[in-house]
Amino acid sequence: MNIFDELIRKQEAVQDRSILSLFDNDNRASDFSTQAGDILFDFSKTNLDAGMMDALLDLIESADVAARRDAMFAGDKINETEGRAVLHTALRNVDGGPVMVDGDDVMPDILATLKRMGEFSDKIRASDITDVVNIGIGGSDLGPAMAVQALSPYHDGPRCHFVSNVDGAHIADTLRGLDAKTTLVIVASKTFTTIETMTNARTARAWILDHGGDPARQFAALSTAQEKTDDFGIDAAQVFGFEDWVGGRYSVWGPIGLSLMIAIGPRAFHAFLRGAQSMDRHFCAAAPHENMPMLLALVGIWHNQICGYATRAVLPYDQRLGQLPDYLQQLEMESNGKSTLMDGTTAPFNTGPVVWGAPGTNGQHAFYQLIHQGTRVIPCEFMIAANGHEPELAHHHKLLIANCLAQSEALMRGRSLHEASQMMAAKGLTGAELDRQARHRVFPGNRPSTTLSYPLLDPFTLGQIIALYEHRVFVEGVILGINSYDQWGVELGKELATSLQPIVEGSEPAVGKDGSTTALLDFIAKHAG
Ligand code: F6P
Repeated sequence: MNIFDELIRKQEAVQDRSILSLFDNDNRASDFSTQAGDILFDFSKTNLDAGMMDALLDLIESADVAARRDAMFAGDKINETEGRAVLHTALRNVDGGPVMVDGDDVMPDILATLKRMGEFSDKIRASDITDVVNIGIGGSDLGPAMAVQALSPYHDGPRCHFVSNVDGAHIADTLRGLDAKTTLVIVASKTFTTIETMTNARTARAWILDHGGDPARQFAALSTAQEKTDDFGIDAAQVFGFEDWVGGRYSVWGPIGLSLMIAIGPRAFHAFLRGAQSMDRHFCAAAPHENMPMLLALVGIWHNQICGYATRAVLPYDQRLGQLPDYLQQLEMESNGKSTLMDGTTAPFNTGPVVWGAPGTNGQHAFYQLIHQGTRVIPCEFMIAANGHEPELAHHHKLLIANCLAQSEALMRGRSLHEASQMMAAKGLTGAELDRQARHRVFPGNRPSTTLSYPLLDPFTLGQIIALYEHRVFVEGVILGINSYDQWGVELGKELATSLQPIVEGSEPAVGKDGSTTALLDFIAKHAG
């Protein structure tokens, strides 16, 4: 019997009860919500009750989440499959104490790099640079791209662009219209070996050279591999390094965040770090029953492993968080999408969920149909700010809030056949036609959702939110017994792409490939240029 079996049995006993009826307890909204700083996490519109919560909280205890958390913050090598510490939290430990790795305090280097980033950002912001192109992929792209969009009201530096895909269309479309003499190219790659990034970086260098720019002045690099940035020819004064204990998808807090810092300025970037640091402190200090990352993780485990809902929709009612679902998709799926547990055994349960989503209200006019009336239950994670940044458009924001709250209410309440029939009768329908039409208008309801609410999407709050999700992924990983900090699952495809490259280029025959791959290669070769 695995750790979830008892919870699954309890869940089966209550799976048909009405979530709405749980609100007969007047305190449900406060009992099933928690606050960290100014952020509210409401998970009352789920089928959790006090007994289930106690059982879930036991998981925190039995998996020894607190000890594992403390080990992470203390710089222990909890990334066991790579023999590394996990210390993205040190990058935002702006006014904290020393953090030791292998007997050395890593904070002086982190703070010195942060200071250099600040000086470089100020220099760029005061220069003739009009555009910044960040070339990176995965964690070296999604974090800064998401945050630059999220914080656009604070963006007072040069324009920022992000190129990630090796598809030449991406860099071609991005560079078209830019001035090669006033564009700064930032090559963001932890390893400085990622084929997509290095290919795009070489294309960008050729573009700068061909159009009269100065690569020495207009290239910067963010990497753990300074010998490789040297080989590429980037001036060490424009290289910002970090250590291997910062995972790619957890790296926006350090040098990988340089484009964000140039966009919003060092002061606002510090606020972003302080927001994350405040969530770190909450995560370390709050008791499990009011610890937001732990509760978010438990709700995730409840829906995924216990109820068996395979996907999770992230639905920010915040247009500027439009790239958050993509960011969280990498954070969660690359971290917890594993089948082998830390002890080397195969997971006897499903691990990380499929994470997807899009901002509201757009999604309402696209995929919400399935969320409301489809055959599968999809737990929804709504997000909404109390305020927008456009006071002159306050009526827009009120509509946005009304829509967000309406969706979680509709998912929970649904509409019965009786109610649908009354509606049809009011429209004058009768008999079999009334019945037929009514059935299409039934909403099963009882569909769970959570809502995260915050006063305003400012740099501090964004820092809190991202750190919250990072810790949620960590807690889920610890409970599942997964190492959330490696990503071996991306390697095989990279190896095979390397072996296919000469075949696609025509310099090697397609030997040893399966029939489908060979036929696809033939078709493409026949139709290529
Ligand atoms: O291929 C996956 C991955 O290693 C991610 O984990 C990482 O964020 C991305 O590639 C980019 O890696 P790098 O920063 O080394 O170029």
